[in-house]
Amino acid sequence: MTYLTSTDEHAVEIVNLKSLEALVKERMVAQGNRGAFGYLRGAAEDEWTLRENTESFNRKTIVPRVLRGIDSADLSTSIFGIPLKTPIIQAPVAAQGLAHMEGEVDTAKGMEKVGSLFSISTYGSTTVEEAAEAVNGAPQFFQLYMSKDDEFNQYLLNKAVKAGVKAIILTADSTLGGYREEDVVSKFQFPIPMKNLESYSVTDGVGKGIFEIFGAAKQGLVLDDIQKIKNWTNLPVLVKGIQSPIDALEAITAGADGIWVSNHGGRQLDGGPASFDVLPAIAAVVKKRVPIVFDSGVRRGEHVFKALASGADLVAIGRPIIWGLNLGGADGVASVVEHLNHELSITMQLAGAKDIESVKTTELL
Ligand code: LAC
Repeated sequence: MTYLTSTDEHAVEIVNLKSLEALVKERMVAQGNRGAFGYLRGAAEDEWTLRENTESFNRKTIVPRVLRGIDSADLSTSIFGIPLKTPIIQAPVAAQGLAHMEGEVDTAKGMEKVGSLFSISTYGSTTVEEAAEAVNGAPQFFQLYMSKDDEFNQYLLNKAVKAGVKAIILTADSTLGGYREEDVVSKFQFPIPMKNLESYSVTDGVGKGIFEIFGAAKQGLVLDDIQKIKNWTNLPVLVKGIQSPIDALEAITAGADGIWVSNHGGRQLDGGPASFDVLPAIAAVVKKRVPIVFDSGVRRGEHVFKALASGADLVAIGRPIIWGLNLGGADGVASVVEHLNHELSITMQLAGAKDIESVKTTELL
């Protein structure tokens, strides 16, 4: 049966990011896609860590500075020499064809439109080549779920290198799937193929649940895998899913070019700390040797500000961008980032931080 989802292509009026989830739920349920919505929204077990991710930002406050002659905020920044118009990038999210018929092609276009970065997932509904073509080679990263089969890993990474991606994101927190009750109840199985897998004639994911998909990936990930990927690709490797300062140090020693602090939006280990709560200790040991990307729970401009002021260089957004994709395709994705940019600009002006470097040195209490 053909899977039908949104074909909308227009800008979205946004009051705040939190309100988008309910709008998308109503639309996806009306189209008969309750299970797909549940997969996109859901998190592990009691979803305690999911809630904590956003709650944790309330445990820190921004100490504003005044009389600093600031009349506008400059959001521009960079990573690995790639200039970005905003520190807000897109977190790699699997199977975006669940939210919109154009899937990752539209998300890539939306992120390019706002001068930011798109990352294509191993489990994307679009191939790495299609994602690159969508934006005529604008910078993108490739997110790798490592396979048990190194030939397949090399095949996939070769495709990513040929497509011109600028970095590899090795996801390290998903050696099996978290226990996501919403998927259990809906018996969720992917109704559309994961096209990067399809071309190698391994399973394309159709008819499988996320637990089986992760189960087919490499369970025994080790530090040496970082160097392996670097040797295969000659690209910078970011390790995603870091929550412990010790893991951050070990990853850097093993060759990581970037640390991605994340708990997978609470989708993996429930009962782990909020991602924001572990960020300062990780930043303290990383000591600016490599960039830090932060995700999980960010829904407000002030959350972006607090993450940057706690040691992050970039902040990634997962679910809210997917809601924007469902509501308005590429323009909807752009609307989400533009709204968050707007909130961040106001926060920066009111806090007395004129640019991203000043945000990073702002005192939190
Ligand atoms: C998930 C993976 C695929 O969380 O990122 O479902």
